[in-house]
Amino acid sequence: MKVAGLFIAFEGGEGAGKTTQSQLLADRLADLDVSCLLVREPGGTELGEYLRDYLKSDRPLSREAELLLFEAARVELVTSLILPALEDEQVVVADRFYGSTVAYQGYGRGLDLDVIHSLNHFATRSIAPDMVFLLDLAPEVGIKRAMSFQTTFTEGTSGELVALERTREGTRFEDLDMEFHHKAQEGFLAQAGAEPQRWVQVNAMQPVDEIKDEVWERVRERLFPAATAKPRTARKMAPQGELWPQAT
Ligand SMILES: Nc1ncnc2c1ncn2[C@@H]1O[C@H](COP(=O)(O)OP(=O)(O)OP(=O)(O)O)[C@@H](O)[C@H]1O
Ligand SMILES: [Mg+2]
Repeated sequence: MKVAGLFIAFEGGEGAGKTTQSQLLADRLADLDVSCLLVREPGGTELGEYLRDYLKSDRPLSREAELLLFEAARVELVTSLILPALEDEQVVVADRFYGSTVAYQGYGRGLDLDVIHSLNHFATRSIAPDMVFLLDLAPEVGIKRAMSFQTTFTEGTSGELVALERTREGTRFEDLDMEFHHKAQEGFLAQAGAEPQRWVQVNAMQPVDEIKDEVWERVRERLFPAATAKPRTARKMAPQGELWPQAT
């Protein structure tokens, strides 16, 4: 099915359900035969996956270098995958985008928000998602979810369930104190509050299927607008300084 391209990002703290919901949305689009590109940040390109490994490890990294590595991964992803897909009128679903940098490196780490905003402009080539779903969850709950091992089950010879794999990817952030995660959460909420036409806040305490339906309802409205179509948001980042108050 041919649709005009749409760029959708999922944001939120650790374990809020971004990967779960981006995959479910991509599956739904595939069922409808809508061309869709699913990407994750950092990652999605050779450089991005290489940097992801480093960023997810506990190897030494200053907060300034951390910011630049996220941006390097981002510009590679935007240039080689996201922009071409949007030009081809595909739907792009991103598991994290620049909102995470504002929240984690800006509000969480305390780096200058204006610098972050400039780097985000540069790295995104000034494009912004049409819709950002903020999966809103108390950091304590999200971290607990994220820390639980992911278990993949398979069927044994007599149909019994056998645990196949128990894996999870660590992150550089999950060991930080809760204050960091609360500041990052504040950063996500500030962005959602500053651009309510772009950001959709979703209560991530709901069961997976309810979140999936809520997300789909909003995406469906945008993809297949009825007679009461709302105007599209600009697929451009807002000018410097208009987006959010400086973190205190
Ligand atoms: N709505 C939900 N209710 C309960 N558990 C959930 C829900 N959504 C996802 N989970 C579970 O919580 C864990 C984290 O989910 P997921 O990996 O999708 O989150 P994430 O936001 O991508 O996390 P991370 O920030 O670590 O990448 C998984 O084990 C997932 O199955
Ligand atoms: Mg994830």
